[in-house]
Amino acid sequence: MSGKTGAGTTEVDVVVIGAGAAGLMCAATAAYQGHRVLVLDHANKAGKKILMSGGGRCNFTNLNTTPEHFVSANPHFCKSALKRYSPWHFVELVERHGIEHVEKAPGQLFCADSSKDILGILLTECEWAGAEIRLKTDIRRVRQTASGFALSTSGGSVQCTKLVVACGGLSIPTMGATGFGYQLAEQFGLDVLPTRAGLVPFTLQPDDKAWLAALSGISTDVVAQTAGASFAEPMLITHRGLSGPAMLQVSSFWTPGQPVTVDWLPQVADPFAQLVEERREHPNRGLERWLRQYFSQRLAAALADQFGWQGNLQQFNNERLASVAATLKGWAFKPSGTEGYRTAEVTLGGVDTDAISSKTFEVKTVPGLHFIGEVLDVTGQLGGFNFQWAWANGWCTGLAL
Ligand code: FDA
Repeated sequence: MSGKTGAGTTEVDVVVIGAGAAGLMCAATAAYQGHRVLVLDHANKAGKKILMSGGGRCNFTNLNTTPEHFVSANPHFCKSALKRYSPWHFVELVERHGIEHVEKAPGQLFCADSSKDILGILLTECEWAGAEIRLKTDIRRVRQTASGFALSTSGGSVQCTKLVVACGGLSIPTMGATGFGYQLAEQFGLDVLPTRAGLVPFTLQPDDKAWLAALSGISTDVVAQTAGASFAEPMLITHRGLSGPAMLQVSSFWTPGQPVTVDWLPQVADPFAQLVEERREHPNRGLERWLRQYFSQRLAAALADQFGWQGNLQQFNNERLASVAATLKGWAFKPSGTEGYRTAEVTLGGVDTDAISSKTFEVKTVPGLHFIGEVLDVTGQLGGFNFQWAWANGWCTGLAL
């Protein structure tokens, strides 16, 4: 598809930097419009994050996607693309390729078999549309020219009229993540809002780690809250800290130094009333026994031990029972931090959307330059929203080029 000039320079209409979710979607869509499209990626394989996503089954969309599922300094920015390319559009593509899928939780669609199927769809679409993908290609320099952009790469020079930056965020550097997209944004005078790891496990202060690490592997349903954001999901205790969907979700709203509150008993509206009743009926029973209705034996014992809830219920006056109930409904801890980009699913912050058209994803001040996907300051919650964002704005950009 690409043409080579006499000087060994490749000339195409569109270069997409990044053979990830957004880049491949954009490349196929643009190539179907008749553009000569070249995708460049420094990795040895396309779509590595797609392959590792959703525990190997890729949670490829969420049927309940709304703009409220995204974190951004400009909450309106994602609206247009999400409306134009809905989860059903992607489901239609998946079904057209004969890929079976399952709804594991309400709205969350996963591959029935393997994430490879989703990557397979994108690579097939690129091939059918005629988009070329060049891997193991380092991009050394990008320059604006009179007719577009000139790239100097480890595989030679490339010239294009449109350049799409789809090189993702900083999470999981071992999978090829770099800050190159942010560098390019800065090179072209755009603001990059501070980045931080999102959808990431918390690490704990020594006091909390001391009792929780021994419970590593236990998962329990909680409601976790921070900064006004609240999620009813399982929490997983690990030997490093607290993880599981509840913690991953709140991590995207957490700022260092802030507490996270955990309701250990979301299924019990009024534990105080229940405890008073239990004391009346079974004054000689230990409180731990009551806890065992809701928690595993190990967790019940650890909670009783940590918070000093030993003894028979008759030894608990109302004030003490109220304190037990308050702790169970609102245990607050201050994370020491997060596991960072090493394990984060996403990067919060990024290229400031103020400078970008929400319809074409073109930089308002640099015609022909587009930013898409996770490199932008748009981050989805857990549950397939991040891929839906990648498909939606990749598709919109591919059409707009
Ligand atoms: P993406 O990261 O997919 O692609 C960027 C591409 O750019 C990569 O191929 C990279 O090699 C390339 N690149 C980077 N720097 C470069 C450079 N300097 N030169 C050339 N190329 C460069 N989301 C979801 O909705 N459902 C899910 O199930 C999951 N699961 C999940 C699990 C794990 C472990 C992670 C880390 C993430 C998820 N996600 C997810 C998030 C999802 O993977 C992510 O939001 C999208 O992949 C973002 O798509 P992009 O195309 O923007 O970046």
